[in-house]
Amino acid sequence: MKPIIEVENLSKKYRLGEIQPYYSLRDDIANLFRNPFSKNNELEKQEFWALKDVSFKVDQGEVLGVIGPNGAGKSTLLKVLSRITPPSSGKAILRGRVASLLEVGTGFNPELTGRENIYLNGAILGMTRREIRKKFNEIVDFSGVEQFLDTPVKRYSSGMYVRLAFAVAAHLESEILLIDEVLSVGDAEFQKKCLGKMESITKKQGRTIVFISHNINSVKSLCYKVILLENGIIIKIGNPKEVTDYYLFGVNKASKVLLSDRKDRRGNGKIKLINIKLSNDENKIEQFVSGKTCYVDVEIENKENILKNDIEVAIAINKIDGTRLLYMGTKIFNMKITLKPLSNVKLRCIIPDLPLEPDNYYISAEIMEAGSLEDYINDAVLVAVKNGDYYGTGKIWPFSGILSKYTWQIS
Ligand SMILES: Nc1ncnc2c1ncn2[C@@H]1O[C@H](COP(=O)(O)OP(=O)(O)O)[C@@H](O)[C@H]1O
Ligand SMILES: [Mg+2]
Repeated sequence: MKPIIEVENLSKKYRLGEIQPYYSLRDDIANLFRNPFSKNNELEKQEFWALKDVSFKVDQGEVLGVIGPNGAGKSTLLKVLSRITPPSSGKAILRGRVASLLEVGTGFNPELTGRENIYLNGAILGMTRREIRKKFNEIVDFSGVEQFLDTPVKRYSSGMYVRLAFAVAAHLESEILLIDEVLSVGDAEFQKKCLGKMESITKKQGRTIVFISHNINSVKSLCYKVILLENGIIIKIGNPKEVTDYYLFGVNKASKVLLSDRKDRRGNGKIKLINIKLSNDENKIEQFVSGKTCYVDVEIENKENILKNDIEVAIAINKIDGTRLLYMGTKIFNMKITLKPLSNVKLRCIIPDLPLEPDNYYISAEIMEAGSLEDYINDAVLVAVKNGDYYGTGKIWPFSGILSKYTWQIS
């Protein structure tokens, strides 16, 4: 049997101008001086490849996982597979009907109600009204949004939206299901329910899933095969453990990815996070050591020619699956941080006795000014925590998450 998905030398080129329509005069002159002899320079600068020569195959009934850092091209790949955007070259053959759950905003018509969108999606898949009606109750039950069925989906919270969108994609008849990270919007319980559903979709119904996720554990448990994408290129493809390990351990370099390249920020951007560096007292590597003093150095920049004197900075440490473990903010200590016009300031968060077991974690960071969000980067850097003999016994019991000092007595 032929593979249900065949992707051959797929490439997708974007023009930077599409997202960055404005170049300052100074930029243009600077470019001119940097490479005054290259005529193509300007054109090359404006184009970039979100996917480059991507090839893979998926057999029917398999779950393919796609992982990789932000901006790797994962969402672009699913958009090309679902025909939302055409490839620049190469081809993608999908031998079956496709249901997709992509970034919020696709798949559903915001003006239509939940009920109407269920019928619309069914119709797109070529199902008759009768066939859709048969699945309708299951969809509504799974999504838990029955009270809002006759409300236009533009009024839904993102959580409700994703619940309904997943239920529709999972229950309507399609041979191939494409799922982007959107699931992380839902609460933990719903995520678990979705993962269970995805498993039964493939095992019981033989449907095929392509699944993007940051949740390494669910990728490992659900997928048959995993692709690691970076800068639009397949870095590694193979069995889930091998590829996710490679990602986690190879990804230490993610802590050196320039924050300035991150586009997935929230906030006004008048004050920006420009650098986050990790260190510890034990070794010179940018990592943490369990039970030892660890440092997070944060540099922020005032982009405006105005004095800012009510600044808060906070960082959070999360598990790879997104579970928040620690939150550390300057507000707790009523710290007064000021930023002169167009200047930078460096802050250091010192964590004595790091209470985390050896594993990989993400650090998210945020800046507020006078109560409004200026800059927020989720999973800004990845940090590896090395074993540091937290209890002083040479032993550690894994899977406890947070560590705490304790003793036992016989009383
Ligand atoms: N419509 C677009 N126009 C220009 N660039 C885009 C567009 N969509 C995505 N990109 C860029 O392509 C790269 C890959 O994006 P994306 O596929 O969303 O990555 P991922 O989902 O892995 O985070 C990013 O650098 C992103 O900024
Ligand atoms: Mg994405």
